[in-house]
Amino acid sequence: MSAQIIDGKMVAERTRNQIREDVDSWVEEGNRRPFLQVIQVGTDPASSTYIGAKTRACNDVGIETGTAHLPDTISAKELKKQIRKFNEDDNVDGILVQLPLPNHLSSHDVIESIDHRKDVDGFHPMNVGRLAVDQPTFRSCTPAGILELFKHYSIPTKSQHAVVVGASNIVGSPMAITLSRENSTGKATTTICHKYTKDITRHTIDADIIIVAAGQPGLIKAEMVKEGVVVIDVGINRVADETSKKGYKLVGDCDFEALKKKASWITPVPGGVGPMTVAMLMKNTLLAAKKSIYPED
Ligand code: GUN
Repeated sequence: MSAQIIDGKMVAERTRNQIREDVDSWVEEGNRRPFLQVIQVGTDPASSTYIGAKTRACNDVGIETGTAHLPDTISAKELKKQIRKFNEDDNVDGILVQLPLPNHLSSHDVIESIDHRKDVDGFHPMNVGRLAVDQPTFRSCTPAGILELFKHYSIPTKSQHAVVVGASNIVGSPMAITLSRENSTGKATTTICHKYTKDITRHTIDADIIIVAAGQPGLIKAEMVKEGVVVIDVGINRVADETSKKGYKLVGDCDFEALKKKASWITPVPGGVGPMTVAMLMKNTLLAAKKSIYPED
């Protein structure tokens, strides 16, 4: 078997085109353009790259955005003061604090200080909790983007065995919740594997769908999966590559070349899940501007 490639770049472009139309209609109805406030603490180069992609996507769909650059020595108190200012600013629809934060700051504490009605990342416990009980919420962007890919390619999840490798708050955990719930795209039997799992292969070998977000290049190998599996690779790892100008290349968590021969569908890295994550952030920002999840009265 040779897998069909899931083209996240193409689906993300189509999604952004739709969002641009929706933003234009919203503005034509007399509303202010949506505004996304990004906060970067420190100068981590990978974070700057991700913020660059988010800013370009905003420009593409007609959402206004600004990034507050704060020093990596900032205190929790001062950072939360800045966040409060954006919480209270009626011209700010969405707030995103780029992670990871410097070690002296607690991401939980910082995320909880964001007004949940502006939490377009979907990381606030209010939004994660609503996801867990199948209520309208800001869905975290990577799981939401993966569901859009399933929808686009008519890849069923109902009654399938989905194995999620990695239990992070950003991807693995909300992904597993979404897949297991009885909403239109879930209904899967879901297993979560993580660093304490005794024998990952015991689970992955039985998977109809594998979603890997572990941050370990080469973690999932062909002998760990069954023929016809759907492989979604969320990993974005920089590995040294002297032939590239940057000195590194991006690879996922899966042995792509070997898995391609066994899977029915597979996402490439880059160009798979990444662009969908950013497109879903645009969608959440528009939902925040429209107050669709949390109506005002
Ligand atoms: N760091 C890695 N992924 C993300 C994300 O989706 N949102 C934020 N805010 N930070 C991240």
